[in-house]
Amino acid sequence: MSKTADPVRILGIVGSPRKGNTDLLVREALKSAEAVGNVETELMPIAGLKIHPCVACFRCFDEKTGTRACPSFEDDMEKVYPKLARSDGIIIASPVYFGGITGQLKTLLDRTEPFVRYARTGYGGGLSNKVGGAIAVGYNRNGGQETSIQMIHSYFLVHDMIVVGSGPAETPGCYYGGGAVTHPKRSKVLDAVAGDELGIRSAKGLGEKVARVALMIKKSNREK
Ligand SMILES: Cc1cc2nc3c(=O)[nH]c(=O)nc-3n(C[C@H](O)[C@H](O)[C@H](O)COP(=O)(O)O)c2cc1C
Repeated sequence: MSKTADPVRILGIVGSPRKGNTDLLVREALKSAEAVGNVETELMPIAGLKIHPCVACFRCFDEKTGTRACPSFEDDMEKVYPKLARSDGIIIASPVYFGGITGQLKTLLDRTEPFVRYARTGYGGGLSNKVGGAIAVGYNRNGGQETSIQMIHSYFLVHDMIVVGSGPAETPGCYYGGGAVTHPKRSKVLDAVAGDELGIRSAKGLGEKVARVALMIKKSNREK
């Protein structure tokens, strides 16, 4: 999307198997991040990516095998690892599936074991101090948006990332990030969430907050 000199980079991961409501919310968050200025964004839908589940071989804790971060599988994670590594902020979004994130998203997150601090892949500790924000959308108003967001926050904390919510302005009660609702009768409507005005604002607030904190961190690193 937009480019300026020495920008912060924000990656938006869409954890839905379809291009629908989650995708719409991440786009809103990224637009709002770009509006802060000096921010470059990339949208990464996981739909269509072929990702094998982690098998706990722990070979990524040994020396790097060849050029791959995950010595066991050569799949679409090869495209994901460098995107994660070069980002300053990461927004992870999921539809609520049974009160939590989608299986597809969990599979991707588990395969980031080569980034944990014990890994010897070249990526070890590589997500530390990046800024993380979460978004969840369900068809029920209290369908598990916050429990899904909490799962994503746990993921960020395990990677020693800095977790932010939607910020204080214009988003009353959206403490945890982007939380939105469609409707059970509109489960096939791919943009049903557009009618959830507060949900859209919470995603926008999150995008802005991730951008502002990522810029602060980049500035303080430059001054060191
Ligand atoms: C397998 C499955 C489980 C779901 N479980 C929940 C749930 O627990 N709570 C909820 O509010 N919505 C649930 N939903 C609805 C989705 O979260 C909702 O349709 C969401 O908008 C989908 O996002 P998308 O349009 O980006 O795919 C479920 C949908 C599916 C397919």
